Amino acid sequence: MKGPGFKRALVTGGAGFIGSHVAERLVGLGVQVRVLDNLSVGVRENVPQGAELVVGDVRDAATVERALDGVDIVFHLAARVSIRASVDGFYDDAQTNVMGTLTVLQACAEQKVRRFVYASSMGVYADAPTPDPIPETHPTEPISPYGVGKLAGEKYLLCLAGVLGLEPIILRYFNTYGPRQGYTPYVGVITIFIKRLLAGEPPVIFGDGEQRRDFVYVGDVADATVLAAQKDVAGEVFNIGTGRATSVNEVAALLCGKLNPTIRPEYAPAHPGELRYSVPDISKARRLLGYDPKGRLEDKIDEVIAWHLGR
Ligand SMILES: NC(=O)c1ccc[n+]([C@@H]2O[C@H](COP(=O)([O-])OP(=O)(O)OC[C@H]3O[C@@H](n4cnc5c(N)ncnc54)[C@H](O)[C@@H]3O)[C@@H](O)[C@H]2O)c1
Repeated sequence: MKGPGFKRALVTGGAGFIGSHVAERLVGLGVQVRVLDNLSVGVRENVPQGAELVVGDVRDAATVERALDGVDIVFHLAARVSIRASVDGFYDDAQTNVMGTLTVLQACAEQKVRRFVYASSMGVYADAPTPDPIPETHPTEPISPYGVGKLAGEKYLLCLAGVLGLEPIILRYFNTYGPRQGYTPYVGVITIFIKRLLAGEPPVIFGDGEQRRDFVYVGDVADATVLAAQKDVAGEVFNIGTGRATSVNEVAALLCGKLNPTIRPEYAPAHPGELRYSVPDISKARRLLGYDPKGRLEDKIDEVIAWHLGR
């Protein structure tokens, strides 16, 4: 059978949520995988068997250079992943998400690693006036520092691609859910609601709950990431989601119904920096990558709950 077209991959952030699923897919394809993660959020047990873990920081040039030794392709997922925390913590956000990315980029230039798959985000987009799916050409006017940092990474990659001989692929992930998402009060509304409901506490909805998101299963995001690396799509930007809009009220109702129907959600003021509507048009990824997301929230949610219960 034809291989993926590369032998050795570095996955930064590979002990985290999405990165560990990407690493697992790559190991399954017979790729030699090295993970670079500082374990600030990620955990050792997420790193798949057969992958090598280097504990270190993407802001540290010497560490990144060592981690890139012998590598054909880098999947750069290490980041501080919180829109909300990036408002107060904008400096730290930029240190990791902008300077960390530039450190990896610089090391790729030194080590002549050309293939670079970059985990960007729906946070790069301007808020949309309706929940209609937005294509990759939707204006990029981030309303959070996190979005600014992710967009800066995209721009650096595309701007330097010619000069450095890089082949960047940019993937704008939307709200990803699934097993192994680490719990913080800021990231992953599905994980946060499950945790609260399992503790007998009501989910807290910020704003009126009618904000709409695209919730995409982590297995689909990992598939898209690995597919992109195998296609001839250097320089392209892709939305990765499902194209379906779900309100936060609907998510809360689904989870309360599953976990504790006597609990009603509570409401709190909306947070600055969060998009009202965040739903992608994924036709480009379907067409050029053969991406076909299979996981529907209502079908996958029991698996995710079971994972939380099993911990
Ligand atoms: N989860 C989502 O819904 C979502 C949506 C859009 C984009 N993304 C992007 O996808 C990528 C993966 O996100 P995730 O949800 O798996 O988050 P995560 O927090 O589980 O994974 C990020 C990993 O990076 C590691 N890390 C953080 N700072 C580091 C540093 N300075 N050096 C080395 N490692 C460091 C963390 O320990 C963690 O394991 C991120 O780039 C994120 O911005 C995620």
